[in-house]
Amino acid sequence: MTRPVVHITEVGPRDGLQNERADVPTAAKVAFIERLVEAGARQIEVASFVHPKWVPAMADAEGVFAGLTRQPDVRYVALVPNARGYERARRADCDAIALFTSSSEGFAKKNINRTIEESLEIIGGVAKRALTDGVSVRGYVSTIFACPYDGPTEPKRVADIVERMLDLGCYEVSLGDTIGVGTPMEVERLLDEVLGRGIDVDKLVMHFHDTWGMGVANVAQSLSAGIRRFDASAGGLGGCPYAKSATGNVATEDVLYLLDKLGYETGIDLDGVVAASQGVAGHLSGALQSRVHAAVVKERGAC
Ligand code: HMG
Ligand code: MG
Repeated sequence: MTRPVVHITEVGPRDGLQNERADVPTAAKVAFIERLVEAGARQIEVASFVHPKWVPAMADAEGVFAGLTRQPDVRYVALVPNARGYERARRADCDAIALFTSSSEGFAKKNINRTIEESLEIIGGVAKRALTDGVSVRGYVSTIFACPYDGPTEPKRVADIVERMLDLGCYEVSLGDTIGVGTPMEVERLLDEVLGRGIDVDKLVMHFHDTWGMGVANVAQSLSAGIRRFDASAGGLGGCPYAKSATGNVATEDVLYLLDKLGYETGIDLDGVVAASQGVAGHLSGALQSRVHAAVVKERGAC
């Protein structure tokens, strides 16, 4: 019997490494990405073209793209905040851009120095240009459960912004628990609201940070609601420079283990991801944050 498919977007090279010291060598980032692709990642967020003063760790985004040997069946995504970022990403020949906004004003202001409405106006213009250029557009909505500055977020507010992002032409919208505070109960409440509006479940992605250790439980809850797309970060790397309380995304290794045990197919090899995470680990300021990663290493030794 064929196993149902779940799509994983690997965000470690961007969401993971954006919070690192600026001195992770570009070649180590390129090797990390290429190993993840070898492990089976088919959509991967390579870097962000944001202001280098705001996020110094992403200042070498052009170098990372230029260093990659591209595989034809892989979508290499660039995170972009505005027209200037789009021009840089386009020159780097990305396959898709990820545009982002927030469902809370406090985070929008701190993260992109704009209100939500201003950011939707800016990214609306960028989406139009990208689609005309034949570049696919992905979207993010942050702070879906709570904001580090404004407190809890109402599901209705998130659903409104998801609809606006889809109206811009995003092929999928990723719902970000930026500070990793959500629990399965909140996932259920939010997805009831979003799916209750008739939004196509295939256009929704869940993006959990794992600050409070609920990432895998939240993935399981989302699966029950019919979600089949998740973002994850190899080794559980990361955090957000403008949400100090956030730690890394739910680890790709943890999500792969769960999905395999639940009978889903991802096309991504767990040992391959462990090897990729180990390859970059020596360049990081902290330890990898994945229980499954640690268990694999303990059981099989280094991959
Ligand atoms: P600003 O200071 O308001 O920028 O920052 P501005 O538009 O006023 O422009 C000021 C100067 O910056 C200009 O240069 C621009 O050209 C330049 P000048 O004319 O003065 O010489 N500039 C740029 N340079 C390079 N690349 C650019 C760029 N844009 C303007 N793209 C801005 C506004 C959006 C640029 C800034 O706030 C920024 O870069 N923010 C990014 C913050 C960030 O990367 N946060 C993390 C990613 S989001 C995230 O992690 C959440 C997510 O994972 C989902 C979740 O977990 O919820 C996606
Ligand atoms: Mg994130």
